[in-house]
Amino acid sequence: MCGIVGYAGGRPALGIVLDGLRRLEYRGYDSAGVAVVAGGALSTEKRAGKLANLEKVLAESARPGIGDGTTGIGHTRWATHGGPTDRNAHPHVSADGRVAVIHNGIIENFAKLRAEVEATGVVFSSDTDTECVAHLLAAELASLDGAAGADGADGAATGNLAEAMRRVCRRLAGAFTLLAVDARTPGAVVGARRNSPLVVGRGSGGNFLASDVSAFIEHTREAIELGQDQVVLITADAVSITDFAGQPATGRDFHIDWDASAAEKGGYDYFMLKEIAEQPRAVADTLLGRLTETGDIMLDEVRLTDQDLRDIDKVFIVACGTAYHAGLVTKYAIEHWTRIPCEVELASEFRYRDPVLDRSTLVVAISQSGETMDTLMALRHAKEQKARVLAICNTNGATIPRESDAVLYTHGGPEIAVASTKAFLTQLVACYLVGLHLAQVRGVMYADEVASVVDQLQNMPARLTRLLDTMAPVRDLARELAGVSTVLFIGRHVGYPVALEGALKLKELAYMHAEGFAAGELKHGPIALIEDGTPVICVVPSPAGRGVLHDKIVSNIQEVRARGARTIVIAEEGDRAVLPYADHLIAVPKTPTLLAPLVTTVPLQVFAAEVATARGHDVDQPRNLAKSVTVE
Ligand code: F6R
Repeated sequence: MCGIVGYAGGRPALGIVLDGLRRLEYRGYDSAGVAVVAGGALSTEKRAGKLANLEKVLAESARPGIGDGTTGIGHTRWATHGGPTDRNAHPHVSADGRVAVIHNGIIENFAKLRAEVEATGVVFSSDTDTECVAHLLAAELASLDGAAGADGADGAATGNLAEAMRRVCRRLAGAFTLLAVDARTPGAVVGARRNSPLVVGRGSGGNFLASDVSAFIEHTREAIELGQDQVVLITADAVSITDFAGQPATGRDFHIDWDASAAEKGGYDYFMLKEIAEQPRAVADTLLGRLTETGDIMLDEVRLTDQDLRDIDKVFIVACGTAYHAGLVTKYAIEHWTRIPCEVELASEFRYRDPVLDRSTLVVAISQSGETMDTLMALRHAKEQKARVLAICNTNGATIPRESDAVLYTHGGPEIAVASTKAFLTQLVACYLVGLHLAQVRGVMYADEVASVVDQLQNMPARLTRLLDTMAPVRDLARELAGVSTVLFIGRHVGYPVALEGALKLKELAYMHAEGFAAGELKHGPIALIEDGTPVICVVPSPAGRGVLHDKIVSNIQEVRARGARTIVIAEEGDRAVLPYADHLIAVPKTPTLLAPLVTTVPLQVFAAEVATARGHDVDQPRNLAKSVTVE
């Protein structure tokens, strides 16, 4: 949640910060703001709503000096404390006008800190938890200014700013990434992180701080990921990192292997459409180099031995939203291939019900961003109980993979649209690989059996490309149905999570009542929802798989149709049995049963995006949502 960016260098900061915010807007778009240090003073501007509102104000009546300063910070917000208003927008400035602060996360002890600050006579100008950090920093700076040589670790001229930040951080509870600038420390930005991401971009003639690398990728591809509880101070030519106690520390250096064009729309109206179209490549990249010459599946980072994996007697998958749906599909594959019991749990529920975990439990955490707080907390709970944790993640070096015992990275590239598309497909691929790896290590699948599934997976990009070329009728249908009030989705077996995912996409993008059901559950209640003309999207398994499964869903389609439903049937090419009951048929390429969600999900993504467009919604930034949910 919230995107933050900072720059210290030789060029005007405002444009650089605004460009960075544009790329980070997917993290939140309730308000945006900037602060620039120019001529020994702070110049700030902030506005509720999308970044465009702020840019308009800056274009119409820029504050004096704001275009000149070469040190600045910027924020795009997803509101937690305090509504999405101008006064609650970041940056927050200290009462003495000296310090500006931006923040991602939640400061849990803010009420106590706020009372303490108010007791000194400061009047707060917002309802946020962040503002107390600005006042606390200013107070620490004032006291340090009076005590020369307070700190040496960060260099004499700028050391007080870093030391003030460390002192404040030691008092904060909760999750935070903080950036601050001080009018009396021109040329420096200080940052800090706990349980929330912060990366440094090492440029030439200037350095950057940001929530993620997309904010500065057009300037540099050399980055440092800060560790937990670290403070960083950047100037035009230096980066210094310490822990909260002031001891010198190091982050993790890495090279960003995608470029700025990967984060641009590439001719599509929306990032989501581009990301849907990128799925063949994303799937291919995720599969790249996974099979060794000896036929073994390779994960990326494995801090577990094969014996550890052989000792596993239970698997829990924890994830949220779309990633949870990927987990639901994985359960079928893991249990089928490995015969290990596998449970899938919403990460937000996992630790609160005190699950039974031990050394022989494998917890698989699936997260595109690698920063989702619910999933991170579930992972930490699992580790406390000594379970082994394996992460599936799209973001190199994010907190979730870093804290896991093993990692398999999806190579989806940046996903900018809030609604997950290519992340889902690549998560599925990664989950299949994990299932195959487990089966192989435990000796329950032969190398040639594994190779044949991998072979099927390697055929997926071609199937997906072919499928994407046939989506025009799906878009036509979506526009035709854009005015309906309810759409239901049904599926069985792995088609059930696909139905849930189709409904989630429609809810979040089209703001429409949409629900997914296990088709067999219909007659236990939900069938009462069906009225004359209610669209029901039916996800049909391959007739070449388990015949009984296919026959059962054909019966379910007949049941809803008999009650007036308009049936939209997603079925394998050549499946003639569904034809008499399909008001609309969406044919997908022939695919083995367990892998079918890789194809059956795609028309549902296209459908949801088109309904949303027809209803006039912002497809990439649906209301009330943010890409990376870093609060519980
Ligand atoms: C829906 C969507 C969300 C995410 C969920 C988890 O389209 O994108 O439901 O799947 O917030 O996010 P990650 O995968 O980053 O943990």
